[in-house]
Amino acid sequence: MEDLTPEETLKIGRILDSPSLWGQKYLLNRDGSPRVYWPHQVEDLECCERNIIHLDGRDSGKTINLTTLVLHYVFTNVGGSVLIAAPHQGHLDSIIEEIEHQLNSSPDLSASIAINPQGRPKIIRKPYYKIEFANGSVIYFRPAGAYGDSFRSLHVEYIFVDEGAWLPEKAWRALRQCLKADGIFRIYSTPNGLRDTTYYRLTQSPNWKVFRWPSWLNPSWTDKRGKELE
Ligand SMILES: Nc1ncnc2c1ncn2[C@@H]1O[C@H](COP(=O)(O)OP(=O)(O)O)[C@@H](O)[C@H]1O
Ligand SMILES: [Mg+2]
Repeated sequence: MEDLTPEETLKIGRILDSPSLWGQKYLLNRDGSPRVYWPHQVEDLECCERNIIHLDGRDSGKTINLTTLVLHYVFTNVGGSVLIAAPHQGHLDSIIEEIEHQLNSSPDLSASIAINPQGRPKIIRKPYYKIEFANGSVIYFRPAGAYGDSFRSLHVEYIFVDEGAWLPEKAWRALRQCLKADGIFRIYSTPNGLRDTTYYRLTQSPNWKVFRWPSWLNPSWTDKRGKELE
């Protein structure tokens, strides 16, 4: 770092401070092309609110944003802890797949994973998936199940929920206990139309920033694709 000009230092600082610039520098699309976030994704990535909830269409880019924010957070915070929760393990598997793709495609990211005494990356798969980073940050992946039992005993600074509309009410109660004071809570989901749920209530709360993304914000969405989704 000592060989950098003040301008270069400033530029690196700006990239590290911005999840969208950071993602465009460190992450790649599945086909190997450079990552460029869509305008609606940038708005969410750069949103500094601590309580954020989404009512989005399918394929609008939720999982790409969630994985970007998680990786940016653990890469830029020492000793940060993040919980990624979803109703079922299947939902988590697609997030894990995207995160593993990014870790495997970037030497900088793979070098940031902690190493265990046997010289292997500290990635634990059972009973729950967990990744530890050399800077002490940890990502916990937990499926809610019916009661949120897997959330108990966790205490984190950042909670992400994918497919939150389908999280059972008892699991919500357990989940909210996991967030430290002043923690960040981000919930992504397609809405399911039910009103008697915590998810719906949060979307109505003045304390939560709400995003609504129709599927057609995805630039590869076409009328034909729209018909398939109906
Ligand atoms: N900024 C982007 N550039 C290129 N492809 C993207 C981008 N964001 C998302 N995608 C792709 O669009 C599709 C839908 O994104 P995804 O995040 O899985 O949506 P959702 O979780 O809302 O269903 C996926 O194939 C994903 O890889
Ligand atoms: Mg998704």
